[in-house]
Amino acid sequence: GTDTADLRWARGGREARDRRDQLLPALHALNDRVGWISEGALDYVCRRLTVPPAEAYGVATFYAMFSVRPRPATVLHVCTDLACTAAGADELSAAVAARLGPENGVRIERSPCLGLCERAPAALVIRAGEPSCPTPEGSPAPPAPEG
Ligand code: FES
Repeated sequence: GTDTADLRWARGGREARDRRDQLLPALHALNDRVGWISEGALDYVCRRLTVPPAEAYGVATFYAMFSVRPRPATVLHVCTDLACTAAGADELSAAVAARLGPENGVRIERSPCLGLCERAPAALVIRAGEPSCPTPEGSPAPPAPEG
């Protein structure tokens, strides 16, 4: 069903469209500070920016560096897309897992392309409380909003 944010979005003019540009920075700020984006926090961002919840959720789940579930303080995202798999991403994952792992508070996750293909195999370390985007210009575009 349509909720309040959707209705406001549908009626929104220039101001609402401008606020939509702040979605990605807002999600970064949240994710960097807390380490993940809770449903309540996402809800708050949607209300403040007048962005439909489905769109915000789509963006929050599109990027590997964001998490919508609690996660350990340190997460290593190993790219397993084509170029990185060909360059040894599985071996990299295994080697890192052998040295670090859940017992050290580190979770290793498979990730889609990190935009660092020229450095394959690529990995991204995300620690709660630290900025999570090393190369904004290399990041893939978020999904286009529906409708
Ligand atoms: Fe791994 Fe692009 S394929 S960073």
